[in-house]
Amino acid sequence: MKYIIKEKGSVYCNGNVWQKLQELLDDLNPTKIFILTDENTSKYCLKHVLQHINFNNPPLQLTVPAGEHYKTIETCLKLWEDLSEKGADRSSLLISLGGGMITDLGGFVASTFKRGISFINIPTSMLAMVDASIGGKNGVDLGVLKNQVGVINNAHSVIIDTHFLKTLPSNELTSGYAEMLKHGLIYSKDYWESLKSFDVENVPATEEAIWKSIQIKNEIVTVDPTEQNERKALNFGHTLGHAIESYCLEHNEKTTLLHGEAIAIGMILTCYISKELLQFPLLDCKEVSSVILKHFPKVEFSNEEINAIIELLKYDKKNKNGNIYFVLLNAFGSIKTNCIVRNELIKEAFDFYKTF
Ligand SMILES: NC(=O)c1ccc[n+]([C@@H]2O[C@H](COP(=O)([O-])OP(=O)(O)OC[C@H]3O[C@@H](n4cnc5c(N)ncnc54)[C@H](O)[C@@H]3O)[C@@H](O)[C@H]2O)c1
Ligand SMILES: [Zn+2]
Repeated sequence: MKYIIKEKGSVYCNGNVWQKLQELLDDLNPTKIFILTDENTSKYCLKHVLQHINFNNPPLQLTVPAGEHYKTIETCLKLWEDLSEKGADRSSLLISLGGGMITDLGGFVASTFKRGISFINIPTSMLAMVDASIGGKNGVDLGVLKNQVGVINNAHSVIIDTHFLKTLPSNELTSGYAEMLKHGLIYSKDYWESLKSFDVENVPATEEAIWKSIQIKNEIVTVDPTEQNERKALNFGHTLGHAIESYCLEHNEKTTLLHGEAIAIGMILTCYISKELLQFPLLDCKEVSSVILKHFPKVEFSNEEINAIIELLKYDKKNKNGNIYFVLLNAFGSIKTNCIVRNELIKEAFDFYKTF
């Protein structure tokens, strides 16, 4: 088993991870255990947990519909009511078993119910394993605006079993790969290079890459848990990526993009902006774009849509005094935060994206 031990938010991965969870549960000895799933993780992942853990009392299952559309305060309300009706108290434990939607939602519900109960994340999607389940950011969307309401509060522990990836649809795997590419871009040229030939069929290499991403994410959130400085790097590609994701969520005629698919576009646009405003080389910018477009769908945006996406940037959580701040790249592994970008340059970046 690979592991990172911390006061809060320890991560355990593969090997005898279920034995570890059993020990943690025996130590915690919660009054009641709730397992939050969506309809897919209830179907594909719950059995695996129940087979591996000896619960003193059967855990109580909470299930919500799958998908970003349900990462809302209305879903939280339903869950708070369920917890209350089923007798949860401050010594109860919530296990979030699912992708990033479930770990974000479950972490927020647990952090706020009776001013906070413990929760454990068991991420089941690639994206949640390498990113969402680690670092304590939890929350919900406000309408289509991403993650506008939430808290930073670490899970008691994060339990990762890559076995779950076997049932994950391939576009969802690729969505997680976007966050791994982001880790390569912001942290390490070597990691980026190794990811270029990424192949999920190669299980040992995939497991190694997942662990590398977990270590990178953990290192960044440990030095800067509340995003004063270093943690902003993890927003690379997300300023525009979130606006694109929100735009597509809002417009039914536009295919809804998965989080990673929107971030993939955001990363291409942001590399172009980095080339224009900093020294990020044109060749690297082209390489990033072609690697990303080998794996992710190309989306057409009209001028009108681009204007609407730029409008949505005003809701970005990094904004201060009405200014929109971007995270840009000087080079692979070297970022600059708090960069102000003209709208004209954003439009040019979309023109560059169109040329691929
Ligand atoms: N908190 C953070 O730091 C952070 C970081 C990155 C992303 N996020 C958030 O994560 C969310 C995206 O996460 P996601 O991509 O995991 O989405 P998701 O949770 O919606 O999961 C994607 C789909 O895969 C299904 N699924 C999950 N595991 C499965 C499995 N093992 N087998 C079969 N189906 C499975 C889900 O039911 C869902 O339909 C977004 O809301 C994003 O904002 C949060
Ligand atoms: Zn993300």
